[in-house]
Amino acid sequence: MSQVSFENRTVIVTGAGNGLGKAYALDLGSRGAKVVVNDLGGAVDGSGSGSTPADEVVNEIIANGGEAVANYDSVATKEGGESIVQTAIDSFGTVDAVINNAGILRDKSFAKMEEEDLNAIIDVHLKGTFFVCQPAFIQMKEQGYGRFVNVSSPSGLFGNFGQLNYGAAKMGIVGLTNVLAIEGAKYNIKANVIAPNAATRMTEELFGEDMSKLLTVDNITPLVVYLASEQCEVTHEIFSAGGGRFARIGISTDVGYFNASAKAEDIFANIGEIRDLSNPIYPTSLADELPLFNEAMNKGN
Ligand SMILES: NC(=O)c1ccc[n+]([C@@H]2O[C@H](COP(=O)([O-])OP(=O)(O)OC[C@H]3O[C@@H](n4cnc5c(N)ncnc54)[C@H](O)[C@@H]3O)[C@@H](O)[C@H]2O)c1
Repeated sequence: MSQVSFENRTVIVTGAGNGLGKAYALDLGSRGAKVVVNDLGGAVDGSGSGSTPADEVVNEIIANGGEAVANYDSVATKEGGESIVQTAIDSFGTVDAVINNAGILRDKSFAKMEEEDLNAIIDVHLKGTFFVCQPAFIQMKEQGYGRFVNVSSPSGLFGNFGQLNYGAAKMGIVGLTNVLAIEGAKYNIKANVIAPNAATRMTEELFGEDMSKLLTVDNITPLVVYLASEQCEVTHEIFSAGGGRFARIGISTDVGYFNASAKAEDIFANIGEIRDLSNPIYPTSLADELPLFNEAMNKGN
């Protein structure tokens, strides 16, 4: 079997002091990657901070014979994002891959959700991904190589009660990554999204004890490590992982129904054909969708 190796590669993992990020960082360290272990060291709701989680992961990587450096900045500010990428450049000379994993939760049903619950989640997840991606992208463009693994969630892709803020941010990360993949293509920069399901301090209540035993963080790591590697030729895609299952998630459309003078009654009469996705098409850009307008017009002619 071909090896997935990280010799002479520098990888940033944000939020790597706990849970999934820690599992990614440890595996990367054991594969020869120089790892920037970023973690703000706060609670699940984003309150507090501390250096211990990042330090402990760095110590573990070094004790196992690997190379790693800690960074304690928040991804949620422009300065924080720049400092995280600068830590990689100062310590190891460059950045080859970024896993944008840092995250928090502020769950509430929509009617009770405060503006601050939205802002905090957008700041860490969506803006945090932007703030780390941008300086890394500039460096990767110059060197003609880069890998991004951005972290979404089934809560955004499919929906989950009480997570409107989180779902919106996590779906925003899909949009951000679609464009990142398109703009990075000619510089050998690949950008993909994962939607994990794993038992961590963030999800212990959601999954419960029995389910948690099946959904380990180590079940997610292989996919993330592959997507962050030189061996990954895939870009602009979304993947699900959990409990040993790995699958692609697609955003698809179909040829659809055509009627240039349609009225609401025509939509009502043809909603079945409009909703039909039995011949799915997966556009990889806005331009990719445009030919479908002609196809729909010509359908049945
Ligand atoms: N566990 C799951 O099933 C699941 C499902 C879908 C998505 N996710 C996503 O996976 C990622 C990791 O989650 P986890 O389950 O391992 O949770 P976790 O709480 O164990 O780990 C998240 C880490 O991010 C750090 N962090 C939070 N805010 C930060 C900031 N502003 N800057 C830097 N670090 C910060 C925390 O200190 C923590 O160590 C998150 O983005 C989460 O939304 C997890």
